[in-house]
Amino acid sequence: MPTIKPVFHHATFKTSRLQEMIDWYKKVIGVTVTFQDANNAWTTNDAANHRIAFLMVPELSDDPEKVRHNGLHHTAFEYDSFDDLMASYERMRDEEGIMPAFSLHHGLTISIYYRDPEGNYVELQSDAFGDWAKSTEWMRTSEDFRGNPIGTFFDPQKVLEAHRGGRSFEALSPAMRQGDFVPDAIPNIGLPEPEAVTRGL
Ligand SMILES: [Fe+2]
Repeated sequence: MPTIKPVFHHATFKTSRLQEMIDWYKKVIGVTVTFQDANNAWTTNDAANHRIAFLMVPELSDDPEKVRHNGLHHTAFEYDSFDDLMASYERMRDEEGIMPAFSLHHGLTISIYYRDPEGNYVELQSDAFGDWAKSTEWMRTSEDFRGNPIGTFFDPQKVLEAHRGGRSFEALSPAMRQGDFVPDAIPNIGLPEPEAVTRGL
């Protein structure tokens, strides 16, 4: 019998900072609260009843070794365009003081990662091809992706300035991928031994 495929619907976080988490996801991805009580909240940023939910239990605590423990690395949200991604980077920086943790050109997507108040990463991305079928085919078949599946770091500020200076996305994208906009310092991506990871080991 064939598998009936359900559609991915939501992620739920355990937290000890309920309101702080709700407020952060409001600022970053524009969620609204569908229902909230003293210890729980269900939020969404689209037509679904909830996409990101939070369950608060008094005994919960932070994991100081989170980076070294198994579990979810990040959730991800996609904009319709590179311009929307960069406009959101600029809005968060200027209006909320929220800065990226690191940014990677994955080849298939341009991705800016943020760290929520409890150390969970949120990836904000736009499709490098503007078309899921094309980016999927590129992932499956390109030697470029095989050789660099994690991605190339970029500094979003440098990219934004180049874009505002007149360089189109079509010109910027391959330049970002080949490393023309690497940050001054290579950031930690929230995994042990990031050097090994970026080598694709
Ligand atoms: Fe991702």
